[in-house]
Amino acid sequence: MAQLLITGGAGFIGSHCCDVLLEAGHQLVVLDDFSNSSAIALERVADLHGLSLQRQWAEHHGSGSSISLIEGDVRERQTLDQLFTRAKALGRSIEAVIHFAGLKAVGESVQQPLRYWDVNLVGSQRLLEAMETHGCRTLVFSSSATLYGTPEQVPIAESAPIQPINPYGASKAAVETLLADVAGCSGCSDPVQSSPKGWRIARLRYFNPVGAHPSGRIGEDPNGLPNNLFPFVTQVAVGRREALQVFGDDWPTRDGTGVRDYIHVMDLAEGHRAALKTLLAGPPQLLTLNLGSGQGASVLEVIQATEAASGRSIPYRIAPRRPGDAAITVADPSLAERVLGWRTQRTLNDICRDGWAWQKANPHGFST
Ligand code: WQD
Repeated sequence: MAQLLITGGAGFIGSHCCDVLLEAGHQLVVLDDFSNSSAIALERVADLHGLSLQRQWAEHHGSGSSISLIEGDVRERQTLDQLFTRAKALGRSIEAVIHFAGLKAVGESVQQPLRYWDVNLVGSQRLLEAMETHGCRTLVFSSSATLYGTPEQVPIAESAPIQPINPYGASKAAVETLLADVAGCSGCSDPVQSSPKGWRIARLRYFNPVGAHPSGRIGEDPNGLPNNLFPFVTQVAVGRREALQVFGDDWPTRDGTGVRDYIHVMDLAEGHRAALKTLLAGPPQLLTLNLGSGQGASVLEVIQATEAASGRSIPYRIAPRRPGDAAITVADPSLAERVLGWRTQRTLNDICRDGWAWQKANPHGFST
C-alpha cells in the first residue's frame, strides 16, 4: 500500500485517520508541530496496531504498515523538502498527502486573523510547492462546512454559495481556490471535474466531527476551555466543568436550540480512506465533497444522549446566542455516497457512547 504524508496527523481528526489508514496497510509519515496535539495520541494509535511509533526516520524495511512522526511546521519549506527527499532515499517515496495541519477555532480566528491566514493558507501553499517539486500530485484536503457561512437552505449541497463569515472559514475557502488553480480548474464549480494539470485532489468539507475511537484510547482533547459543544458536554459529565451554557433556546428549531450535523470521527476517517482510494484508482481530478451524516441533532438532544450514555447529569443554563451562529446546518451527503461509495454508519448514540468512554478514561485528555 502507499506511503503517505499526513500533516497534522497527531491532532483529533488526523490521529483517527492514521488509525484507519494503518488498518488499510498504508505506511505513514506524520508531520506535526504539536501546537494543538500530543504525540501520545500517535503512540496509542501505533500501539493499537502492534507497532511502535518511529520518532524521526528509522530505516523501515518490509511492506507492512508503519508510522513515523516528524516534529515540524508545514510552513517550513526546508522541512518539507527534507521529508520528501528522505522518503525517496529510503525507497518509499510519498505517493499522496492528507493535509490536516491548520488552525480551526472560529472564535479564535476572529481574534487572530493574520495567524489563521498564515498557518492555513501559507502552510497549504508551502506544501503544494514542495509536492510539485517532488512530483507528488495527490492530495486530500481538510476543508470545512464553515465556508458555507449562514446557509440559505438546508440540507446543504456542495453547490451552495461559498460565503464564509469568519477568518477561519475564509481561509479554508481560499485554500480551496488555490487547490482549484493548481489543478487547472480555476473558476469551475463542478464538484467532480477532471484536472488538466494532472493533479488528484479531494476537498473534503467536514460538518461537525465529534466522538472518539471505540477503544477509548484516543479522542478530542482541546486546549483550554472547549469552544465546541461536544467536548464541553463530556467535560461537564466527567466533572471537569461545572455546567454547560446553551447558546440560545429561541432558535427556529424543534426545541429552540441549535441543530448541527454531528459526524462520528471514525466515519470521517473512513471517508478519508475512501477519498484516497478513489483518487489513487482514478484519473487526475478535483473532487469537492461534504462529509456529514445528513441528520441534525439539537443541543438538548446531545445533552440527553450524553446523559444516557454516561449515566451522569449534565447541568446547563440558557445563555444568549453566540455571534456568528446559525440555527441549523445539516449536510446533503448524497454526492460523497455516489462518488466514494461512502456514508456515515454511526448514530448520535454511538457518538456519545464512544465520546464518553474516551472522556471517562482520560478526564484530562492526554495530559493525564
Ligand atoms: C454546535 C452547537 C452552538 C458550545 C464549529 C466550526 C466548524 C467545526 C465545528 C472546524 C451550536 C452550541 C456550542 C457551547 C452551545 N470546526 N453550543 N454551547 O459552531 O457548529 O462548528 O465547530 O472545522 O468549522 O464552525 O460547532 O460545537 O461550537 O456548536 O450551546 O458551549 O452547539 O450554539 O448550536 P459549530 P460548536
